[in-house]
Amino acid sequence: MAIKLYLFLSLAIFTFSNADLGLLKLKLREIQMTVYFHDYSGGPNATVVEITGLTNGLLSFTKFGAIFCTDDPITEGFEESSTQIARAQGIYVTSALDGSNTHVLISIVFINNEYKGSTLEIQGTSAQFEQVREVAVVGGTGNFRLARGYATFETLSYDRASHYALIQCNITVLHY
Ligand SMILES: *[C@@H]1O[C@H](CO)[C@@H](O)[C@H](O)[C@H]1NC(C)=O
Ligand SMILES: *[C@@H]1O[C@H](CO)[C@@H](O)[C@H](O)[C@H]1NC(C)=O
Repeated sequence: MAIKLYLFLSLAIFTFSNADLGLLKLKLREIQMTVYFHDYSGGPNATVVEITGLTNGLLSFTKFGAIFCTDDPITEGFEESSTQIARAQGIYVTSALDGSNTHVLISIVFINNEYKGSTLEIQGTSAQFEQVREVAVVGGTGNFRLARGYATFETLSYDRASHYALIQCNITVLHY
């Protein structure tokens, strides 16, 4: 009796999740976008601060356990004066003992007319000193409900004097 009941329950669950998948398949849409992060890791208008550690203004990106908070402007073109469409708000933690990887938890919070109030959630390990880093897009809200996909980050330029990095971000997501 117990075994029969168990079989029935698992069959019911299987049937339900199959129907569910069919529904999602019909409505999933793919979206690709290329946007630009403007990252200031120092100076009077810094968009990254270190939560842990040194207070002399120098950020210790390679120190295992160092935690940073960020709020970078995101634009549609690469110029700083280009239309701002979102903010990159979140935290990241140097997560490799040798300082090579950082664990990134960032929300892309859209502020443009098209997606205002919607978010994409980025999470993953970023090989922070590689030219191109890839992380997962694990979810979203608003326009991007049930989003999943990936994002690449490529540093196009870095100016040491102004602590300014221009980062190209390509996002590919399937969403509901
Ligand atoms: C910092 O921001 C203020 C206000 O927007 C601006 O006037 C100033 O020029 C900025 N400073 C630098 C170094 O970018
Ligand atoms: C990101 O997209 C741009 C524009 O399509 C392309 O030129 C660039 O090579 C892409 N970067 C990566 C890392 O795929």
